[in-house]
Amino acid sequence: MKPISIGICGLGTVGYGSFSVIEKNGSEIARRLGREIVVSHIATRSIKEHQHIGEVKVSQDVMAVADDPEVDIVLELIGGYDLAKELVLRAISNGKHVVTANKALIAVHGNEIFSAASEKNVVVAYEAAVAGGIPIIKALREGLAANHIQWLAGIINGTGNFILSEMGDKGSEFANVLKQAQDLGYAEADPTFDVEGIDAAHKLTILAAIAFGIPLQFDKAYTEGISNITIEDIRYAEELGYRIKHLGIARKSEQGIELRVHPTLISQDTLIANVNGVMNAVMVQGDAVGPTLYYGAGAGAQATASAVVADVIDVARMMSSPENSVPALGFRQDSLSDLSILPINEIISAYYLRVVAKDKAGVLSDITEILGDFNINIEAVIQKEPRVHDVEQNLSVVILTDEIKESVMNTAIEKIEALNAIGGKVARIRMDRLED
Ligand code: HSE
Repeated sequence: MKPISIGICGLGTVGYGSFSVIEKNGSEIARRLGREIVVSHIATRSIKEHQHIGEVKVSQDVMAVADDPEVDIVLELIGGYDLAKELVLRAISNGKHVVTANKALIAVHGNEIFSAASEKNVVVAYEAAVAGGIPIIKALREGLAANHIQWLAGIINGTGNFILSEMGDKGSEFANVLKQAQDLGYAEADPTFDVEGIDAAHKLTILAAIAFGIPLQFDKAYTEGISNITIEDIRYAEELGYRIKHLGIARKSEQGIELRVHPTLISQDTLIANVNGVMNAVMVQGDAVGPTLYYGAGAGAQATASAVVADVIDVARMMSSPENSVPALGFRQDSLSDLSILPINEIISAYYLRVVAKDKAGVLSDITEILGDFNINIEAVIQKEPRVHDVEQNLSVVILTDEIKESVMNTAIEKIEALNAIGGKVARIRMDRLED
């Protein structure tokens, strides 16, 4: 049988990683697929010295791959929005299947891309867009297809997890660890995408769409970064039995869908609290299966290539009958739900609060009185005496609260910040039990 012909657009980390995996594991892949896969065309601006691509045709223009009649499946591995979108739509209009690792593209333009693909009866596969090598898209769309998914929570940005882990383990300052993550090649070209939660929100948008059968709605995701997390917060959380993780959380309730990325205190007894360094993990709760956990490398050439090439194999298997493929978002296009995304003010959460106060009698009771006025129950309090060298003699009061609506907590925080004895903003971190 004629081999499946692949065109790779972009020969960066993931593009070259995918080329290498196809070369290295070609015979094992053919044993699974019953057909050979060959890379016939590559578009790249330059071939780096260490890259060996044999006799493969090379173009500088990615559109040459989308227009190449020899190519069956186009791999979009250039990243970014505009050119990537143009490339994918061109490949689709030429009747080609597409595999992409581009989370930003799918989160922002996925609805349009999937409808174009459906009209042309071709497939756009995107396993590598979320959590690198972890097959979480397949798990959600197929492995858990019998379930109502109730919620999912994930560490889906390796850079952010690396930063928080290093701060916790070594007491390193935020800026130093970020520099290290950039040097190690984990961070996005614009690292604010990592630290401000935008990259994680792209991935969470995709996970929520396939978990709940809703359209992709990146613009409604709430994002909060980790740049305000201090080593003090990490230590106080530890003292109380918690870890701070930068989580993407999507939860379905009667009121709507929560779609939020922010630092979160979780019990240090949970498995996901012990996922450290650049590793990713996603917890999914289904009504039939209960809690499940998926763990693995969320970035890196070979791990991401593992997902890209698995998609190539999947697409190759259904090329003769694309109408029988799993729908792009796991649910039929005409069955997507219009459940609304809840504004962050509407969510219910428990909170960690750190208040810096002048060492003045009565300040703790003033704070607890305000919380009491808003019916906010206190679960734990620790008061830290001023440091010896602190000329201003500030003390820190750390409070864990019970669950309360976010808008109520915000008003209570405003009242606390207005107290005379309080210096500056109250540090507020949401907590999650990762239960129903
Ligand atoms: N910058 C991303 C991360 C790369 O750190 O997770 C993988 O998507």
